[in-house]
Amino acid sequence: MIKCEQPSEIRSLVRRWQLDGLRVAFVPTMGNLHAGHFSLVELARRHADRVVTSVFVNPTQFGPNEDFARYPRTIERDAVGLEAVGSDAMFVPEPHALYPMGAANAVRVEVPPIDRILCGAHRPGHFSGVATVVLRLLHCVPADCAVFGSKDYQQLQIIRRLVQDLLMPVELIAGATCREPDGLAMSSRNQYLLPDERELAPLLFAKLRSVASAVQMGQPVGAVLSNAQAELTRVGFSVDYIEVREAETLADWYPDARRGVALVAARIGNTRLIDNLEFVLTED
Ligand code: PAF
Repeated sequence: MIKCEQPSEIRSLVRRWQLDGLRVAFVPTMGNLHAGHFSLVELARRHADRVVTSVFVNPTQFGPNEDFARYPRTIERDAVGLEAVGSDAMFVPEPHALYPMGAANAVRVEVPPIDRILCGAHRPGHFSGVATVVLRLLHCVPADCAVFGSKDYQQLQIIRRLVQDLLMPVELIAGATCREPDGLAMSSRNQYLLPDERELAPLLFAKLRSVASAVQMGQPVGAVLSNAQAELTRVGFSVDYIEVREAETLADWYPDARRGVALVAARIGNTRLIDNLEFVLTED
């Protein structure tokens, strides 16, 4: 696996492959990789001849009280895993390579209105930071396609809008959420859970399933959601939100909507977890 630190290096490598007629896929990550990330690299492999994975802990997407400093940096282990799963190149820029003017003075992009709702309302500036770094990464890695996980559902829809609105010549591919056998969505944050918190955590996905099937059966969305929130709170979650939204726009659910997504963000102890479940309403 080729390792590049400089934007110019990775850009010429990708261009060289493309001039040779090869299709290139890109998987952006923040490292601390687990099976969920590796499944995205495997998906990328199925869509392209060459795969580039980036590992960059992006300062602009962390709020002042968030875990940027303590976010695990496991670069050696990540490199071993990426090589094993077939990534052809790894892009590991230093912060000043991606933010030459410094993160505080960076040119930023916003993706209104969907960067302000749901997680955006609880983490002001987070999605602007994500969109900003994805734009920069895609300038450095001008791949034919880029793969993002569906676990970060709102992030995925925001990146879709970013790419569409800025006319970026890259195809987006969504990877399915990888789950533990008990249903918990894989996440770097799961490692922070204490044993009793880890036992509780799969209830989030169980609750999303019951919310989605209640909506599919025609039960009133407002009541379904307030019951779900009350039950999660009763067992010990501090719920930021549990919502049902239209799947593509994340607009409030409306009577004629057909494709939906149930989304949750909740804390157990000090750990904030998110999850989602897409569903379709069939005509009867
Ligand atoms: O999903 C992530 O790991 C990050 O938000 C991303 C897309 C790599 C941007 O830093």
